[in-house]
Amino acid sequence: MFEETIRKKGFLDLPINSSVNIIEEIKRIKKEKNAIILAHFYQESAIQDIADFVGDSLKLAQEAQKTNADIIVMAGVHFMAETAKILCPDKKVLIPDIFAGCSLAESCKADDFIAFKKLHPDAVVVSYVNTTAEIKALTDVVCTSTNAIAIVNSFPKNQKIIFGPDRNLGSYIASQLDRDIIIWDGACTVHEAFSLEKILDIKNSNLDAKIISHPECTKPILLVSDFVGSTSQLLTYAKNSKSSTFIVVTESGILHQMKKDCPDKTFIPAPPNDSTCACNDCAFMKLITLEKLYNTLLYELPEVSLDKDLIEKAKKSIIAMLDISEKNGL
Ligand code: 13P
Ligand code: SF4
Repeated sequence: MFEETIRKKGFLDLPINSSVNIIEEIKRIKKEKNAIILAHFYQESAIQDIADFVGDSLKLAQEAQKTNADIIVMAGVHFMAETAKILCPDKKVLIPDIFAGCSLAESCKADDFIAFKKLHPDAVVVSYVNTTAEIKALTDVVCTSTNAIAIVNSFPKNQKIIFGPDRNLGSYIASQLDRDIIIWDGACTVHEAFSLEKILDIKNSNLDAKIISHPECTKPILLVSDFVGSTSQLLTYAKNSKSSTFIVVTESGILHQMKKDCPDKTFIPAPPNDSTCACNDCAFMKLITLEKLYNTLLYELPEVSLDKDLIEKAKKSIIAMLDISEKNGL
């Protein structure tokens, strides 16, 4: 019966008694079951605060790889939970809402990617971690926005490289390394929605502010940015910078850690253009709620399961990424 609800709704919709202190119960059940919660920076603040580890996609994979927990709850999107499952096939990996997808992963279907690869038989494949397990199985080395430059740079300059699925990150890497890359035409709907005009308006009234952007943003935004980096790199930049004001061009969840780490600094979330929902939330990330997290821990559902063969095929490209990252001190 639970499976049927999950198939239809993506999560367990069981009511929670109002006398339950959800935060305290999550802590208790987590301990009792030897479970850990891994949360991405785009999760709501209360989830970040209750998590065992909060981080970017690379950190979440690294923590999954080294945990001794029996259960991993991924407070993030589906590709992050799949990555944890691929790295820990014998552990139970749970995600509070199986419909927490990603527009980038969605933009790259395995059949289309196989056809794309056939057009470039002498190219190696570097895929962004924001992909399905099927795409990772077709990939030589996975990357995240933290290590993308190091991963691409690990191949000789004359080696042809296919990069997918994010065209903005792909062209950013190509420009930074001054090399040709064959790029899949996908994008993140959240990062493509930021308005250059509005960002510049904010900058004009805050001339000392630094514009800091995620590489999934479009090129015109990256060109006016003072710093471009992954979520963890944006956080580190804000901490180390002498500036006191930042226009943050990525999903708004990251502002929670920025304000926690730098209480005396000002962080202004960049606005999207009007044609979108007028907020800079990732609707997929925000599908995860404390209530869903509680039910997930309690009932150990929804669980992420993957075919053994697929795990074996996808694992190689993730392990290759983790090895190169370690060599580069990332
Ligand atoms: P990071 O790895 O930089 O946290 O990015 C993940 C993501 O989905 C960005 O939209
Ligand atoms: Fe995917 Fe974009 Fe959401 Fe990141 S912000 S999870 S890339 S849809």
